[in-house]
Amino acid sequence: MAPTDVQRPDPCCGTGAYLAQVLRRIATNLEREGQGALTGARVKQAATKRVFGFEIMPAPFVVAHLQVGLTMRALGAPLTEEGDERAGIYLTNALTGWEPHTTKPLPFPELEDERERAAQVKQATPILVILGNPPYNGFAGMAVHEERELSDAYRITKRVRPPEGRGLNDLYVRFFRMAERRIVEKTGCGVVCFISNYSWLDGLSYTGMRERYLEAFDAIRVDCLNGDKYKTGKTTPDGSPDPSIFSTPEDPVGIQVGTAIATMIRKSDHTSASEIGFRHLWGQSKPYTLTKTAHALPLTLYDPVEPELGLGLPFAPTAVSPGWFAWPELPELFPARFHGVLTNRDAFLVDTDLDRLRSRIASYFDDSVSHDGIARRYPNAMKDTARCNARAARDILLARGGPSETGFVRFTYRPFDNRWLYWEADTKLLDEKRADYRPHVFEGNLWLSAAQHLAARSRRTPGLLHRTPRLASPDRARRQPVPRVAAR
Ligand SMILES: C[S@@+](CC[C@H](N)C(=O)[O-])C[C@H]1O[C@@H](n2cnc3c(N)ncnc32)[C@H](O)[C@@H]1O
Repeated sequence: MAPTDVQRPDPCCGTGAYLAQVLRRIATNLEREGQGALTGARVKQAATKRVFGFEIMPAPFVVAHLQVGLTMRALGAPLTEEGDERAGIYLTNALTGWEPHTTKPLPFPELEDERERAAQVKQATPILVILGNPPYNGFAGMAVHEERELSDAYRITKRVRPPEGRGLNDLYVRFFRMAERRIVEKTGCGVVCFISNYSWLDGLSYTGMRERYLEAFDAIRVDCLNGDKYKTGKTTPDGSPDPSIFSTPEDPVGIQVGTAIATMIRKSDHTSASEIGFRHLWGQSKPYTLTKTAHALPLTLYDPVEPELGLGLPFAPTAVSPGWFAWPELPELFPARFHGVLTNRDAFLVDTDLDRLRSRIASYFDDSVSHDGIARRYPNAMKDTARCNARAARDILLARGGPSETGFVRFTYRPFDNRWLYWEADTKLLDEKRADYRPHVFEGNLWLSAAQHLAARSRRTPGLLHRTPRLASPDRARRQPVPRVAAR
């Protein structure tokens, strides 16, 4: 951390905790080297010229300046009282502006000035280490053009199966790509070290991402911090509590998703990695284990994992018996498949009790009841969604008349949880009615429902196969559409 030619940004620095820690580490290294009285000056030089933070939100940006300023003072490197010095923390979108391009002027000269300074760091500084905790948000919304291109790079594969699902839309993926591009394509050597949502390690959306990293980096090490609500219920393999690494006494839950630290090293004399180093950290003692082993040699910490092409190059150990790949895949056995019906109005359109459902739907089709009346009784029925104007949809259905007697159908809502659904062919009252799938559901035709991703990801549920004669829903508890495979 101490060498003067190492530039290191935290591209999503939040309140600056990592930047402050990097400065403390630099001070410790300098003390160890016997720099004594020079330490303060060197720390200040690092904080103003080589250790950068980018943050998009003004409030954490201000706190980051405060935190780094206080840390500098504690390390004997205070900024001048005159205000002519500043730590290298910039209010900017870290995902854009890495290439020179014309931008629209900002409304305040101060913001324009801030953008200029950030662009200087992004475009002119040779960056060797990128570290941080990128934001994770499964629904990152619309990306600006430059941002969207970032995750596009992982949609294309060479040898591995193409990505499935929507995982690449997650915000943290864009930060990974920005960092990879900076280190691999611009500087040509360096280190990316991110703590993030760990779904990319073996999820089927990230096959292209993993393939690229094996090619682009010389060494990849993963500290898998587990603590995931969905895969393990936040328990260790022996059933003890396994909190998130971000849990604290004040916030014992931490965050819901599991996390991992990935450290990826690119050397100037580059050889692609053929295996990765992996270790699991479980339970309440994992923060302690991490700190205690911070200086250990990688060879003593990590087990080698050879990512298996047939499984999508997972960066985590997988148990596969010999001959596994000789077995036919489900799509080979069952060529026709459909996603399940997704209402997005379950509280209105789905019920365990048929009479209750009939009575709700009868009110909906009663034109003496106003839209407001229905909205008061069944708010879910009249809520607009991205694809449906609820009032316009009801107008169309009232004009057509209903309900349709054949619309009340048995519905496999979750495995072994059968309910009733009102299936409406017209409008977007059902968000995904799957009109192509519906005609194939009839007495005597059996379906096999398979949650592909569970086999690869879950320790506890080794893939879920479920046979049903009914119309079925995607298992949204698992947060991915479940393909339904026709049996005949
Ligand atoms: C998980 S937090 C990181 C917390 C940080 N390590 C700390 O010590 O506070 C992610 C941060 O990234 C910021 N962020 C999100 N999108 C960003 C973007 N496009 N550019 C810069 N920062 C961004 C968020 O505002 C948030 O503060």
